[in-house]
Amino acid sequence: MILSYIEISLWIATAFFMLSSASSIMQSHIHGTSRLDWIKQHLGTKTPYTSEVENITSVDEPGCKLLQFHSVIRHGTRWPTARNTAIIRDMASRLLMSNSDKLQWLKHWDDPFLAGKAGYLHITGQHEMYHMGRRIAKRYKRLLESVDLDTDELQFASDAQSRTSRSGSAFHLALLEQTGDLTSAFISPTSWSIYPKATDSYIHMGYTCPRWLSEVYTNPNATYQADAWIEVMLPPIADRLSTEFEVELSVYDIKAIYVACAFETSFFGNYSDWCSLLDPDDILTLEYAEDLEHYYKFSYGHEINRWVATDLMSMLMRRLESNEPPKMSFQFGHSQTILFLQTFLNLNQDSDILRADTPIDMIHERKFRTSKVSPFAANIGLELHDCSGTRYIRALLSEQEVILKGCEEAMCPLDQFKSWIGEKLKQDYDMVCRL
Ligand SMILES: *[C@@H]1O[C@H](CO)[C@@H](O)[C@H](O)[C@H]1NC(C)=O
Ligand SMILES: *[C@@H]1O[C@H](CO)[C@@H](O)[C@H](O)[C@H]1NC(C)=O
Ligand SMILES: *[C@@H]1O[C@H](CO)[C@@H](O)[C@H](O)[C@H]1NC(C)=O
Repeated sequence: MILSYIEISLWIATAFFMLSSASSIMQSHIHGTSRLDWIKQHLGTKTPYTSEVENITSVDEPGCKLLQFHSVIRHGTRWPTARNTAIIRDMASRLLMSNSDKLQWLKHWDDPFLAGKAGYLHITGQHEMYHMGRRIAKRYKRLLESVDLDTDELQFASDAQSRTSRSGSAFHLALLEQTGDLTSAFISPTSWSIYPKATDSYIHMGYTCPRWLSEVYTNPNATYQADAWIEVMLPPIADRLSTEFEVELSVYDIKAIYVACAFETSFFGNYSDWCSLLDPDDILTLEYAEDLEHYYKFSYGHEINRWVATDLMSMLMRRLESNEPPKMSFQFGHSQTILFLQTFLNLNQDSDILRADTPIDMIHERKFRTSKVSPFAANIGLELHDCSGTRYIRALLSEQEVILKGCEEAMCPLDQFKSWIGEKLKQDYDMVCRL
């Protein structure tokens, strides 16, 4: 493995210099407040959700009637995991030994990452989900009014984790304001399905798929490309900052700085001092490291990843093809839920497989960028329309229209989409996940 890292390091040695020069050009337009905006778009899966959908226009297409809407939604901003909380604390204690002027703020830094809250939904995440609920209530007002809330026409589901069900709960409070009898906001209660961990093939679906567990999750070589990138690209950053701050920093410390920068930015929405320790080049390098990791764990990097969302997509298709309830459904999940589903749908797929030695201009222009495709609260919505007797499907990725595979336009005849997806759905989850 060491040998091949060296080979890769030769390939990407030039890439490293090109990355530096490419981004020094970029640096000219990324300081000041625009630097905060820029950083907010490069925090990988810890990127805060930014909805550009300010003026919500009517969802109705001329001559069409919206019949159904189903959405799969990642939880909102959460607390760092126990592991990340610990590595941030550890890294901060090392940096506290530095006398650098650039670290004066650290002496007064109040560590906001509470170990007792690791992995739970953060208050910022509650707001993200609540506001999304309001936008969806507006956009789908007419459909929502047609739903009989006493029946199964509206359904909520999540896995058995706190952050997903609480995301759904925050979303529900906004979605169903002014529809019922409860509280001064006249909220309706809603029904809820929780998929138990041991059999959950819809939300936390990798973990019930034996083939994925074997080929990816427990395979130490599965994230080889991410490891190779990190092995070559992170030590120079660690060396540079070690020299600058006169303390010994490892590659893990560099990752911890990026994680602290990402979570503080997501929590507070303002400029985090942690981010100021990293150059834009460093951030792009760390972002790609995270992307490669997710690409190989949950996306196009391995063949099995293209199939793990089979059960979820089958369920959504069954709903879209039937006149039975639900008319509206919301399933709350994780970044893996969103990534597996996008991968099943061939969305945001680059023409070449992403690797550690992918040419730098292709890295810069990649479609698969978790900061865009799987930030906190990322979501995939599917609408079903009836246009004079012909049914159409329209997909939205984080509230923006996308063109589905097999389709020419965002509004796509359901039969046309089915002729593509139907082939894929001929295999069921048990078949694709069998070892
Ligand atoms: C939203 O609509 C208002 C009124 O039409 C307009 O002034 C505003 O610029 C629009 N905002 C965006 C983001 O398009
Ligand atoms: C690990 O994966 C890489 C491809 O990403 C491959 O070239 C290499 O042979 C694999 N190593 C082992 C031990 O399977
Ligand atoms: C960011 O916001 C938080 C919470 O409002 C505050 O405690 C912190 O000092 C702010 N940081 C900066 C750099 O303004």
